[in-house]
Amino acid sequence: MSNILVAGGNGFIGSHFVSVASQIYDKIFIVDNLINSDFNNFKKLLKLSKRNNIYLIKSSMHDYSLLDNLIKKNAIDSVIHFAALKAVGESSLKPGRYYYNHVLGSKIFFDVLKKNFIKNLIFSSSATVYGNPNKLPLDEKHPIRSTNPYGQNKIDIENLLINDPYFKNNCSVKILRYFNPIGAHPSGLIGESPKGIPNNLMPYILKVAQHEYQKVSVFGNDYDTHDGTGVRDYIHIMDLVDGHINGLNYHTKGVSIFNLGTGKGYSVLDLIKTFERVNHISVPFEFVNRRAGDVAAVYANPSKAESVLGFKAKRTLEDMCRDAWTFAKDNS
Ligand code: WQD
Repeated sequence: MSNILVAGGNGFIGSHFVSVASQIYDKIFIVDNLINSDFNNFKKLLKLSKRNNIYLIKSSMHDYSLLDNLIKKNAIDSVIHFAALKAVGESSLKPGRYYYNHVLGSKIFFDVLKKNFIKNLIFSSSATVYGNPNKLPLDEKHPIRSTNPYGQNKIDIENLLINDPYFKNNCSVKILRYFNPIGAHPSGLIGESPKGIPNNLMPYILKVAQHEYQKVSVFGNDYDTHDGTGVRDYIHIMDLVDGHINGLNYHTKGVSIFNLGTGKGYSVLDLIKTFERVNHISVPFEFVNRRAGDVAAVYANPSKAESVLGFKAKRTLEDMCRDAWTFAKDNS
């Protein structure tokens, strides 16, 4: 019997992971406070998995006794921590809420995992911890410094693991630093549908494609990049999930850190043009001022995950644009 606990498993990344994990694990227990996702998404996840082995517990990482009982009663042997709000801009407006949700919540969560001698843990981190890159591509040895509370939260949580004797000596901990996950499950049943006005580029493109918004505001076209617009390492959400499965199957004592990216950088205009070409849809845009806190270019050196985890992203930017639209056009 192999059971897994997925904190934040009803969110964009978590639910895509669960859609694959439900074919591998006997039981999947999702703990999610549903701040940024809804029960409808969970019903679609059940339909997708067909195995009826996924359980949703509406709670948060702060609920020590609930988590303690859940782990004890269900022989949990692996844990993934996805639970997080991810609006970088919002984190600057509400640093206290982000700290309470992310860092304090994770501290309590990790205490429960230690008490129950959990031996296999993945933490969902972010390339945001690198701040403005000194050099590209970014490898795991690049200096860590953050330019916003969201990124600082990720650094603080990574340090809770790195500096803890239990995690250093008695647990296989994988910290996975994501670049820019986009796309959706190829079935079109689940995908990214943030509440409110999207902060991120792909969800905003989708709203324009659905005619909910008139045009994309391109934040700056005077960066030192091939076409002046911001460059990012977009990775298909299903590739990101594959990276987690590889991570769970990698067992070594202590804390290991991996970048999960493709190693390719694409600009805002590259993404808009690819989306238009693949889906035969026009996506109007206009150039506006840069967004505060943005950097010109960020993309990964993915070689450590490839050599150690045996993970290499295989889906293309076209796949990401096609799958994102397959979900969005039926779920507006
Ligand atoms: C991408 C590019 C913008 C919106 C994200 C998440 C963060 C982390 C890393 C997980 C930039 C430009 C955007 C728009 C635009 N993920 N843009 N118009 O900033 O790289 O960060 O990935 O931890 O949580 O926020 O992604 O999609 O916001 O921006 O021109 O309406 O698109 O300037 O160049 P970002 P993004």
